[in-house]
Amino acid sequence: MNSLYSQAETEYRRQIERALDRFLPSRTGDVLTESMRYSLLAGGKRLRPIMTLAWCRLCGQDQEVALPAAVAVEMVHTYSLIHDDLPCMDDDVLRRGYPSNHVVYGEWTALLAGSGLYNRAIEVLVDGGKHVGLSELQILDSVRILCSAAGTDGILTGQVLDMVNNGSTLVDADYLERVNEKKTASMLCAACLLGCIAAGADSVVTEASVQYGRLVGLAFQMRDDILDIQSTAADLGKTPGKDEREQKVTFARLWGIERTQKEIVRLSREADAVLSKFPDSGFLRWLTARLCERNR
Ligand code: IPE
Ligand code: IPE
Ligand code: MG
Ligand code: MG
Ligand code: MG
Repeated sequence: MNSLYSQAETEYRRQIERALDRFLPSRTGDVLTESMRYSLLAGGKRLRPIMTLAWCRLCGQDQEVALPAAVAVEMVHTYSLIHDDLPCMDDDVLRRGYPSNHVVYGEWTALLAGSGLYNRAIEVLVDGGKHVGLSELQILDSVRILCSAAGTDGILTGQVLDMVNNGSTLVDADYLERVNEKKTASMLCAACLLGCIAAGADSVVTEASVQYGRLVGLAFQMRDDILDIQSTAADLGKTPGKDEREQKVTFARLWGIERTQKEIVRLSREADAVLSKFPDSGFLRWLTARLCERNR
């Protein structure tokens, strides 16, 4: 069974890579297009778009109808990474195993490439959604969900809370949960929910997808914070030890690695319990278990 799921993951990823390339502006030699393509096509785990496609499948629909949403989610995620790496934010020079966007193209291009990807994501949701036969209401809902996850209800506020946490001695577990909820779980929720919207799912499934996305998102960021302490640049494709250097409090630094890992396992079990209500959730349950142990 595991090898079947692993094959399914490879197939999802292949489909996503092809679609990302197709939905981007084609090479025109201009620096903005080039820098957008550079970061979006640099690899990455593609976890969020895989979740979009997998939730669509769980709802019994062909994943093709969720492909524009999957692409849009990965575009917004990649935009958030480009901006997260800027000198005025985490000042990170390595991303997805390559020099960060601003290192190659300079700061103002990186800023615009991030904005360009965000903008493109909305176009893809609308044009791609029409192309695969989504209704106007499905498209409107999708735009609303993605903008909300990326905006002041999601990533933007999460990033603010995260930035002002640098060097703070006042940060506690409640604060960190709010940071992780906003900066990371919101996009995981949106990824799952968009798959359900594209599939035309009912409220039972859509609500489950939101619960699942939240739990997995919280666990995912905790694991990211552990890897920042434990991993290497070669494995991570980004610079380890950043959180300590910035004096950023994370669960891994507040609670220690062992307790944080236990919490990751607890959250993943809760996520698994959400999935267990659905007979066709085998792939997502397998993926959830793997996320607890991930090394990159
Ligand atoms: C990195 O996300 C940012 C976090 C929310 C921790 P990923 O670990 O999914 O990064 P990629 O997409 O694989 O590069
Ligand atoms: C960033 O969190 C999450 C985003 C919304 C981009 P981190 O700053 O911990 O992500 P990495 O470790 O740089 O990928
Ligand atoms: Mg950051
Ligand atoms: Mg960072
Ligand atoms: Mg990190």
